[in-house]
Amino acid sequence: MVKVSTAIIVVATALALYGCSKKAEEPAPSINATMRQIMEPDAEKIWGITSKAYNEVGDGLVPEKISDADWKEIADASRRMKERADFLATAQKIVVAYPNEPILGSQAVGTKSKDGAAWDAVGPDTVQGRVNAKLDDFHQKARKLYEDADAMNCASQTKDVALLYKIASGLDETCDSCHEPFWGTDEPPPIPATEKVKGAERLQ
Ligand code: HEC
Repeated sequence: MVKVSTAIIVVATALALYGCSKKAEEPAPSINATMRQIMEPDAEKIWGITSKAYNEVGDGLVPEKISDADWKEIADASRRMKERADFLATAQKIVVAYPNEPILGSQAVGTKSKDGAAWDAVGPDTVQGRVNAKLDDFHQKARKLYEDADAMNCASQTKDVALLYKIASGLDETCDSCHEPFWGTDEPPPIPATEKVKGAERLQ
């Protein structure tokens, strides 16, 4: 009898777990969350590792300066970037930012830049309009990011420092080539120290 009731509990638990796993789908990740949670921190990890491994001239990396733990970190970071870039490169509907996600610089929307309209801050609606209007272009830029992340992931498997150097040193251009058309410029005029927003300095 004891055995039977245990079996019933096990089955009931299994059914309950199954029920749980069928809960409502998570909302798709926004561009904002992708940038803050994956692209920025993971690219920083990779750049941190490569910048301490430069050779004396700075035109390549010294293999001995990249440890196994570093390679593992590059493998993990590039895999996360690759997976999310693939999403950005294929999703037919892309949300720039959910209402609770302020985008960098949007607090300045409405104030005219003294350096011209190209420097005016934009809010999520403007960026969303640009993404919707040129989704194919957006997908292409995201595909390039996918290819870079994929190449760095391959480099981490074979410990190929030449490939890692080539891709990591050109990665910021891949980032900028999407930021420029969709967000605005990636090189805003220096922000006075008093107005510095957390994180803004990283993008200069
Ligand atoms: C396919 C397009 C695309 C690529 C490639 C891309 N970004 Fe972005 N990124 C955007 C857009 C659009 C925004 C503006 C929306 C926003 O700020 O959330 C943005 C904003 C950001 C922000 C500001 C987030 C905030 O708090 O508002 C950071 C940081 C960032 N990107 C980092 C990166 C890095 C690092 C890379 C390259 C490794 C990269 N991005 C590549 C589209 C891209």
